[in-house]
Amino acid sequence: MKEPEDNPYIRDLELEFKDIEEMTEEEAEQQVELLREAVEYHDYRYYVQSNPVISDKAYDQLFDRLEKLEKEFNLQTENSPTQRVGGEPVDELETREHVTEMLSLDSSEEEEEVREFADRVREGVEEAQYHLEPKFDGLSVEFVYRDGELEAAVTRGNGVEGDDITQNARTINSVPLKLHQAPDLLVVRGEVYMPRDGFQELNKERVEKGKEPFANPRNAAAGTVRQLDPSVVADRPMDVFFYDIMETSADPQTQKEAMDLMEKVGLKVNEYNQLVNDIDEFIEYRNDMMERREDLNYDIDGVVAKVNDFDKRDKLGFTATHPRWAFAYKFPAKTGTTKVRDIAVQVGRTGKLTPVALLEPVDVKGVTISRASLHNEKQAQKLGISEGARVKVERAGDVIPQIQEVIEEGKEVFEMPETCPVCGSEVVGEKEHHFCTGGLACPAQLKRKLQYFASEEAMDIEGLGEKVAEQLVEQGLIEGIPDLYRLEKQDLLELEKFAEKSANNLLEEIGASKNIDLASFLTALGIRHVGKETARDLSKEFRLEELMKASEEDLKEIEDIGPEVAENIVSFFDGAGKELVKDLLDEGVNPQREEVGEELEGLKLVITGSIEGYTREELIELLERHGADVTSSVSSETDYLVVGENPGESKMEAAEEEGVEELDEGRFRDEVLSQI
Ligand code: IVH
Repeated sequence: MKEPEDNPYIRDLELEFKDIEEMTEEEAEQQVELLREAVEYHDYRYYVQSNPVISDKAYDQLFDRLEKLEKEFNLQTENSPTQRVGGEPVDELETREHVTEMLSLDSSEEEEEVREFADRVREGVEEAQYHLEPKFDGLSVEFVYRDGELEAAVTRGNGVEGDDITQNARTINSVPLKLHQAPDLLVVRGEVYMPRDGFQELNKERVEKGKEPFANPRNAAAGTVRQLDPSVVADRPMDVFFYDIMETSADPQTQKEAMDLMEKVGLKVNEYNQLVNDIDEFIEYRNDMMERREDLNYDIDGVVAKVNDFDKRDKLGFTATHPRWAFAYKFPAKTGTTKVRDIAVQVGRTGKLTPVALLEPVDVKGVTISRASLHNEKQAQKLGISEGARVKVERAGDVIPQIQEVIEEGKEVFEMPETCPVCGSEVVGEKEHHFCTGGLACPAQLKRKLQYFASEEAMDIEGLGEKVAEQLVEQGLIEGIPDLYRLEKQDLLELEKFAEKSANNLLEEIGASKNIDLASFLTALGIRHVGKETARDLSKEFRLEELMKASEEDLKEIEDIGPEVAENIVSFFDGAGKELVKDLLDEGVNPQREEVGEELEGLKLVITGSIEGYTREELIELLERHGADVTSSVSSETDYLVVGENPGESKMEAAEEEGVEELDEGRFRDEVLSQI
């Protein structure tokens, strides 16, 4: 793209702007036009060429002036550079047909197959030059420019039609909204991707906020372009490389000319594109690019050779799925070893800090790994993990990614930060256990505590999942759990995705949760190591007031409650827990012990496998409500082992060993369930 001539805003930045009030409409229109051209040009220098010619501050001045003038004189247009983030959220993406079908590439990791491809080309057209390009690992998108303006962007979909992501594509800074000196029609294809540095930053943020990180930049990009809210896309680092012209009123004769045309009109093309004369150069190119791969800021999974001459392409034609004039020489998947890009610290629901290594995505037994928990400071130091280290990754038990060893050291070995990465509160503890002292004041803990508080096994507030909990905390509507019971409809209506009905429903659910059984209430408090099962044991023995005053000795009397759990419970009610419970009761929360029936009193059961019509949790609750004692392992005291569908072998074996009688589903229904 050439620098526009005679535009005073391109380089001369000492300009004084006339007072907007004193401008005529005509003057404003003229200035808007020049400012747009200038901003577009500077966007191009910055985002496409990574080579800006003015400072950020000077750019901001131009941009602000343009924005003001457009507003003051009502001159906004859809493709003005000020409108990149303007789109409204939608309910779903529309489908749009491609201008030309999007096929895929024939590919292989084997040199031999690459040579066979070249042989076929030679049979068809004798000599051919090849245009070589990296094979970007992102998502292919078709872009339609009409009269130089972006009209549509469509994902690959099924090749014939895809999702219309125009609003999202508009937020990607390297996608021009307007082209320069462009032909009337230009339909191009490009690969939309997330740069590796931006991906790592995004994942770090997600881990610190307790969200699941993306597995790799490709997944992150795929999840992003299909977002329904363009402002989410605008906040993510997205980029693009254009690699093909599908249709145009101009007349390129070769791939090289097509590339030059795209570059001329302002579309970003890759710097490693290359024109060569034979297939040996393609193989050499592949080896060079494989070495360079680690240093690039985008993922590539191979290289592509395309016959350069379009007439020759026509002669070669297509199969049902791919062109006969192009071939991708893929890299072998990276396996096993990778680099630690960063170490994030995750704050758990209980305030526990866990270091997490964020890795260059790597394939381990067919699964992409991009992070591994380091568990705690001691573990991280024992392994000698540091930012920049090269490490060997395994999947423990074939599932959980784990760093096996450091192969090459990086910077300084990891140390736990002294303050919480989320709330800045002091961190206490050493080596194996570090905790943020922010408690409910720490948003990381509050969000999770709230979500847990509302979960099915706790207060069972339907409609209050992760997203809503997050919003309530982020919007400052909830600073402590009891605030939940002070929410008003108006508060909820201000949140994303809330309307009259959903707000009413949630308030109703919150209200209904006030009548709660004691076991669920105790679970909701989120005391360390007090899950539903322990809460149920406690609720059988104590009323709430009694429990709040119970000593460790009292608690240890209960089967299954050990010294550590007893200590947690006592210190919870000695500390912040007391106040929390009091506040909740003040808000009308009324936890009640469930009356326990006597029908099954004294019956000790163990359940294995599933019984139709009940979840495991429901069945245990039902049986216990009628006096049975359901435990998780078979002992000599067990009366019966209930055997449902897909029973566990170990329990069956234990029952045999202990001489415990088995009840199949039929007998269980006839002899036990029928009693209640
Ligand atoms: S050309 C008719 N060039 O690879 C084939 N594709 O399997 C046109 N890709 O879905 C594709 N880099 O997402 C082409 N330089 C490049 C590419 C490229 C990445 C992707 C594209 C496509 C897939 C084809």
